[in-house]
Amino acid sequence: MRKKLVVGNWKMNGSLARNEALVAELRKLLRPDGVDVVVCPPFVYLSQVKALIKDAIIAVGAQSLSSAKEGAYTGEVSGSMLADLGCSWVIVGHSERRSGYGETNVVVATKVQAALDSGVRPILCVGETLEQRDAGVAEEVVGSQVDAVVSALGVEAASFVVLAYEPVWAIGTGKTATPEQAQAMHAFIRDRLVRSGVSAQGVKILYGGSVTAVNASLLFSKPDIDGALVGGASLVAEGFSAICAAA
Ligand code: G3P
Repeated sequence: MRKKLVVGNWKMNGSLARNEALVAELRKLLRPDGVDVVVCPPFVYLSQVKALIKDAIIAVGAQSLSSAKEGAYTGEVSGSMLADLGCSWVIVGHSERRSGYGETNVVVATKVQAALDSGVRPILCVGETLEQRDAGVAEEVVGSQVDAVVSALGVEAASFVVLAYEPVWAIGTGKTATPEQAQAMHAFIRDRLVRSGVSAQGVKILYGGSVTAVNASLLFSKPDIDGALVGGASLVAEGFSAICAAA
């Protein structure tokens, strides 16, 4: 049984005061025995949140990174800078970055490689749009997103990548994938990895897309759902700790 991993993606939310209150509440409410918990604040708050968490068994991650190591890349943040701050995780290829910032499968693969090179564990986001699902090409789309990273990194390195299946139509909509839909795609992803030669039984595949305290335990009951990548619900201590408790 793979230990569950629950990751909170704060997206572009927070302030020094709100972060302090949220982390204080999380430290009180979280009982993360039996589950690994990560919070991913915006870049500018990584140091503050890392300091607030102190010894608590919550890890800190980033929401993206540059594929460059350092140099003339105005506004960018490198994997080594994230590691310097004590970041142990980084989300890569979130659909909001794929659609909003031109992150193609190739760009995403270079960012996954950059994360691994910096010693920061990548969480690779994959997922289809509603149009793609309705057109019956969801597996084709997700399969190509997975293949792009495996072919760029090689099967050895790919086994260190955590995946997050986030159907775009479920992100921020309240329209969570059913546990059966999510399990089907997770099983497809794991099978795709195995067929590519990746030793995938240990690979964690998270579900993301309107996860809440209400639907988390049913999702977690599925054999290939190894945790959650949580957006909106991660900004409320009670809800996020309830999701972690369901793991
Ligand atoms: O990265 C997680 C995020 O995309 C899911 O957002 O608000 O639907 O939980 P939300």
